[in-house]
Amino acid sequence: MITGKAKLAGVIGHPVSHSLSPVLHNYWLKRYGIDGAYVPLPVAPGAFETAIRGLQAAGFRGANVTIPHKEAAASIADAVDPLARIAGSVNTLVFREDGTIHGSSTDGMGYVASLEAEGVSLADLASRGSALLLGAGGAARSIATSLMEQGVSVILSNRTGERADALARELAAAWQSHMNKAAPSLTTIPWDSWETALGDVSLLVNTTSLGMQGGPAPDWKPDLAHSPTHLVVSDIVYVPRETPFLRAATARRLKTVGGLGMLLHQARPGFRAWFGTEAEVDAATVEHVLAALKQR
Ligand code: ATR
Repeated sequence: MITGKAKLAGVIGHPVSHSLSPVLHNYWLKRYGIDGAYVPLPVAPGAFETAIRGLQAAGFRGANVTIPHKEAAASIADAVDPLARIAGSVNTLVFREDGTIHGSSTDGMGYVASLEAEGVSLADLASRGSALLLGAGGAARSIATSLMEQGVSVILSNRTGERADALARELAAAWQSHMNKAAPSLTTIPWDSWETALGDVSLLVNTTSLGMQGGPAPDWKPDLAHSPTHLVVSDIVYVPRETPFLRAATARRLKTVGGLGMLLHQARPGFRAWFGTEAEVDAATVEHVLAALKQR
């Protein structure tokens, strides 16, 4: 039930109608019997600051922020987590009672949590080799940052090699200025050579839209013949739930982790901050979100 005392939050984006966050948060609100609501907030690019001040004035507890506002969210926040500073974007805003705004980036953390939820040990990954990330966009940036924070060496490979090189340079510089510990190794390799460079890799992550239903190459299925047997293969694409990439890994008996977990786990820190409850990502949660996905 939503009463006059309901706790309020939402997701700001442009467009925002594709976001699954309202489905997820309202499912958790109902399940935990919380007097609250989480709404989609379509906000045009020029109106971000006006919207944020309005939401603060209206008593919202905070908001998730998605494309194209993630950089603006980093600028408007009074305090930003070091990892979000390095990742260069903020996806979770918490409005504090003193009027200040706290910003964090939960995508990378959500990714790491999704690995752990599938029984993958980050310490094992770090000791067995590097993480090879395919892609050099925003998702690669967040995931690379969080893996490095866990002590995992990262290799970036992107079709447009200069983008991977530029990202590696930026991440290394940002790490220097925002973290008080040494960065694990961060290197790049050409796109046409990653398939044969898997020998020393313990985690392979697709952060591109390759393999996505309706994306640039839905049938994308690289050659995994050079994989070590302990390689963990993960995909941030979650439609379809099992991409051809993950199927190819399963066929080689490699451990796989799909993209839905990251989507669900990245939502937990915001839910905790706004609604005061630790939300669980369990089979019922996955079922609920999958049912919503099927209706699209
Ligand atoms: P994000 O959504 O993570 O911010 P993006 O900027 O949309 O990312 O980039 C998508 C990623 O998919 C990029 O790394 C892109 O490679 P380029 O930098 O070379 O464009 C990658 N990508 C998209 N289509 C691709 C294709 N057909 N082959 C290889 N990589 C592709």
